[in-house]
Amino acid sequence: MVLVKLVKVNKIYETGEISFQALKDINLEVKKGEFVAVIGASGSGKSTLMNIIGLLDKPTSGAYELDGQDTSKLQEDSLAGIRNKKIGFVFQSFNLLPRTTALDNVALPLIYGKIPNEERDEKARLALEQVGLSDKLKSHPNQLSGGEQQRVAIARALVNNPEIILADEPTGNLDSKSGQEIMGILKRLNEQSSSTSKEGKTIIMITHEASIAKFAKRVIRLKDGEMN
Ligand SMILES: Nc1ncnc2c1ncn2[C@@H]1O[C@H](COP(=O)(O)OP(=O)(O)OP(=O)(O)O)[C@@H](O)[C@H]1O
Ligand SMILES: [Mg+2]
Repeated sequence: MVLVKLVKVNKIYETGEISFQALKDINLEVKKGEFVAVIGASGSGKSTLMNIIGLLDKPTSGAYELDGQDTSKLQEDSLAGIRNKKIGFVFQSFNLLPRTTALDNVALPLIYGKIPNEERDEKARLALEQVGLSDKLKSHPNQLSGGEQQRVAIARALVNNPEIILADEPTGNLDSKSGQEIMGILKRLNEQSSSTSKEGKTIIMITHEASIAKFAKRVIRLKDGEMN
């Protein structure tokens, strides 16, 4: 089953008088259960592609279907709803709230879902358990190592049980040992079935490093906005 389908996607950024084409005629299909790495030099369009797949930005032209649904005509509130339900984001810089416990950081995406407090905490606890952080529920980000902070971010990405995990350089701020640990977790999430799905999570991950890309089952290369 095709989850992500891009057809002739172009992205042109306009900055003042200057326009820059960051993506050129991208055709891409990602099926449920895949683990795809996107590699390419700095400025090649990786994050631009990720932002479009994650519904954070729209293509200038071309079509994007997510889980069989054409996304081009959706308004921001529908996009936000789909994003919250279907996509879990993991960023290089973790993006955790500083004065907030691990548990509350992970529970945050559930606040939009009108879920009762107790159920929210229980789901957050389970997500943190999945990344091996059951003993750090009450820790604040500055009391955690980089690798642990990224595990909290992965738990937050998982808490709504999304179809897809989008990770933009998830190991970029980590030493190689923590990076390998994070990749071990992503690999397991991709392989492991859950109560709600026979397949594991579909993962699309950006990376610079060959040692990280090799965890993926498929590698896509971007060069100057083109896929080859
Ligand atoms: N909001 C924007 N406005 C104008 N140009 C942009 C914008 N975002 C990105 N660009 C340009 O588009 C190109 C692709 O950027 P993008 O962030 O997708 O690259 P990247 O492959 O993720 O690079 P990196 O590995 O450094 O993160 C770059 O030349 C960048 O300067
Ligand atoms: Mg980038």
